[in-house]
Amino acid sequence: MVTLTLNGQELTLDADPAMPLLYAIRDIAQLTGTKFGCGMGLCGACTIHLDGQPIRACVTPVSAATNKHLTTIEGLATDGVLHPVQSAWIEHKVPQCGYCQSGQMMSAVALLKNNPNPNDDDINTAMQGNICRCGTYPRIRKAIKDAGK
Ligand code: FES
Repeated sequence: MVTLTLNGQELTLDADPAMPLLYAIRDIAQLTGTKFGCGMGLCGACTIHLDGQPIRACVTPVSAATNKHLTTIEGLATDGVLHPVQSAWIEHKVPQCGYCQSGQMMSAVALLKNNPNPNDDDINTAMQGNICRCGTYPRIRKAIKDAGK
């Protein structure tokens, strides 16, 4: 059993402490916005926040979240109001296939928390671990700059 807070709700999960958080979130908590891409910490599709810091849920064990706060894409909006990053993603029509985009947004939120006015280099550096096979990077950069305003 592992107790953690997921998107503001305290949960006790009946999960092996070594289970990757990604599986616990998708298969036990039934939140499927966080995606499985590579399963090896290389693509960023599974990015979530652990106590506000972006992590790769596919290579982070459930035990690492004990008594900590997790945020997934489902937890970004508050009281039905989208996070500015989500609104900017819609405004700029960022997704193409969309598969990587929840991870992209979670990394973007973390970037903007530290740097609300990033330039292209800042964005490229902060987002380099999030791969998009459709090549939506130009729209991602525009959306991040807009969301930071
Ligand atoms: Fe976790 Fe690719 S699925 S980094």
